[in-house]
Amino acid sequence: QTADSLFIINNFAEQFFTKALTESEEGRLIGLSYFKERGFREGIIEKFRLGYAPNDRDAFTREALSKQYNKELLLKSGLVAERNGALADNYRGRVIFPIHNHSGKVLGFGARILKTTDKAPKYINTPENEIYVKSKILYGSYFARTAIEKADECLLVEGYTDVVSLHQAGIENVVASGGTSLTVDQLRLIKKYTNNLTIIYDGDAAGVKAALRGLDLALEESLNVKLVLIPDKEDPDSFVNKIGAGAFTEFIKKNKKDFILFQLESSLASIGDDPVKKSELVNKIAESISRINKAEDFTKQQDYIKESAAILAIDEAGLHALVNKYIR
Ligand code: CTP
Ligand code: MN
Ligand code: MN
Ligand code: MN
Ligand code: MN
Repeated sequence: QTADSLFIINNFAEQFFTKALTESEEGRLIGLSYFKERGFREGIIEKFRLGYAPNDRDAFTREALSKQYNKELLLKSGLVAERNGALADNYRGRVIFPIHNHSGKVLGFGARILKTTDKAPKYINTPENEIYVKSKILYGSYFARTAIEKADECLLVEGYTDVVSLHQAGIENVVASGGTSLTVDQLRLIKKYTNNLTIIYDGDAAGVKAALRGLDLALEESLNVKLVLIPDKEDPDSFVNKIGAGAFTEFIKKNKKDFILFQLESSLASIGDDPVKKSELVNKIAESISRINKAEDFTKQQDYIKESAAILAIDEAGLHALVNKYIR
């Protein structure tokens, strides 16, 4: 009941924001210019139903109340907030990324500030409610699901703009985790479409760390996980806009690494001959391999043990025994 009403309000709001983007002077001058400067073209703006929230105290609130939308529900939707005892717009002077579920219904919104400052958060997102459950949201799944099934691969990026820019570049099998911490629920949604996950996170330290965290979870869900690291200071959005669609696709192809072997090779390179560090690495790898532990993954686990032992130049049976110690 509440869920249905929230979907209706969000649908109304999506229309309000897309209209404000293209049919008002403020929207065209500020919002549309912003998107254009980022390289988003009209077709992709329409496809993702990107919008603009006017820089007004209560432009949306007034419109919604005049259409008899319920106050409690408006507050719950996060579109409206109580300010100084009156209802006011929560998103003001921001560009809007509607967030759709797999069937295209609007779960909520990400609202980006035009110029980042230290004071205001870059994105304001819908608060948790009956339909917006952050841990279950995969941004872009509605637009990506067919392409994911066709490619039998899901590319996972961090942000809204990464999804939009990759789609524009013709790479459509892509969804975003919306920030950094990948959840089991998100992985299970991906698994409905494919078993092959390629994580393409930002080339900063936070991105690498988040990717490695997600990998362990993904292994437990029996996904085949590959990893691509985007060069430092770039993200998929900035990188594809910099080098172009063809070069980006080539880059992904060339730099896609199996995650365990990636972890192994990159760590091994930095260790040198230190026996203590090598022992730590062997344990870390054994722990990761131990997570590939469902019955249907038996062969995969054996293969990893074999390949890792060879790379590490250690005894395969010894590594196998260590892996078994980590299985809980
Ligand atoms: N995010 C968020 N709130 C923030 C910062 C980030 O919800 N204050 C989420 C958004 O979903 C964002 C994603 O984390 O898209 C990745 O963050 P970041 O890389 O900082 O932003 P970008 O997507 O690169 O956005 P932009 O290019 O507009 O800076
Ligand atoms: Mn980032
Ligand atoms: Mn970015
Ligand atoms: Mn980013
Ligand atoms: Mn075994």
